Order: sequence, then C-alpha cells, then structure tokens
Amino acid sequence: LTPKDLSGKKLLITAGPTRETIDPVRFLSNRSTGRMGYAIAKRAKARGAEIVLISGPTELDPPEGVQLIDVKSAQEMAEAAVEYFPEVHAGIMAAAVSDYRPIEISEQKLKKSENDENLMIELTRTPDIINELNKIKGSQKLVGFAAESEALKVNARRKLLEKSLDLIIANNIADENVGFASRNNRVLILNEEFEYQVAIRDKKEIADIILDELKSFL
Ligand code: C5P
Repeated sequence: LTPKDLSGKKLLITAGPTRETIDPVRFLSNRSTGRMGYAIAKRAKARGAEIVLISGPTELDPPEGVQLIDVKSAQEMAEAAVEYFPEVHAGIMAAAVSDYRPIEISEQKLKKSENDENLMIELTRTPDIINELNKIKGSQKLVGFAAESEALKVNARRKLLEKSLDLIIANNIADENVGFASRNNRVLILNEEFEYQVAIRDKKEIADIILDELKSFL
C-alpha cells in the first residue's frame, strides 16, 4: 500500500513537448513524449498530492484524478503555469519547452519556391517558464530538468543556480538507452547540498525518488 505522504500538498507539473506553429499544417516541436512528467504526476497523485498537470500534446492517458490542462505552445504553457502557480506548494517543470518559435505564423500554407533551394524561417525566443514563475514565487519550491548532451554535471549546476531551482534532474540525452521516448531513465539529481546518481530505472521509480527529495524540503 502506498503511503499518502504527500497528502495536503498541491503540485504543478509541466510535461510533454510544445508545438510552435509555422503555418496551418506545420509546427516546430521535439521528441519529448511526456512520460517522465506523467510518471511524476501519477506517483504524486498515488501518494496523496493534488495535481495540476499542464501538458503539451502527448499520446499518453492522463493519470486518473489529476487536473489536466492541455496546451500547445510555450506561450500557452507559460500562461497556464503562471495562472496555477499561486495555488501550489511546488512546481515540477518536466516539459521540453521549445526555446524558439517562428516570429510570424503564416495564415496560408507555405509554398515551395521554384527558384530558391533554401527557406528561411526566422525564430524568436519563447518565454522561459521557470523565469516567469520565479518572478511571482512565494514560498513555493521549484524542480527543473536539464537535458544535456555534454558536460552534464557542470551544466546542471549552472542551471540550478541560474534558474534558482531547489532541485534539478539532469539526464544525458547522448545516452542511447535512456531518456526521450524511453521507459527508463538514468539521471543525476542534485542541488547545493545533495547529489545522487540514479542508475537506469523505470521512470516510475525515478518519479518516486524525485518526490522523496522534494518532500524533504516541502
Ligand atoms: O535551460 P533549459 O531549457 O535546458 O532548462 C530546462 C528546464 O527549464 C526544464 O525544467 C524545462 O521544463 C524548463 N524550461 C521552461 N521554459 C522554457 C524552457 C525550459 O520552463 N522556455
């Protein structure tokens, strides 16, 4: 039987990719499936927490009993996160948010050009959701993720500080057996006092380890 050790706690979880529209049929996105965020939502719910799950487009069934907010773009995800953040004790930011979006959304489908081999689509930065939440943060805790292809620990530590996170979960996306679209994950969980290398495990087990750590300072 799962202990209800998170009862009375409300968590905001972002999950999945975002989609940045190019034209009526095209978008920019990434390989995130949402599995890590959904696994955290499911375990936290099972442990008694109340959950607001803000999700980009995924193929997953939302865990039963969570409040699901469906969004598409980074901008929509940011707006939903800012709206719900004041109600929660912590934010767990597991979404793979697109860092850039097309400056202009074409109302018509883009046509191929007869005389130009190349097409330029100009991009601009999307809002950094963690930064937006930091601006309105009270006593809430913030957990972030870092998907890195090199210098995992150094980049994760830098992000922990730059984003004023309470905990960061770093995974090496160059590692072929784990990570995106995989059921398993191998992660480094760290903050200023704590560093924990988790061997390849089911995302459900990793979710529980992240929640154990978060609970210790909630
Ligand atoms: O800086 P980087 O994008 O690698 O940081 C990753 C962390 O920041 C993740 O927790 C991700 O959910 C979050 N993030 C965000 N808003 C963005 C980009 C990333 O909240 N626009």
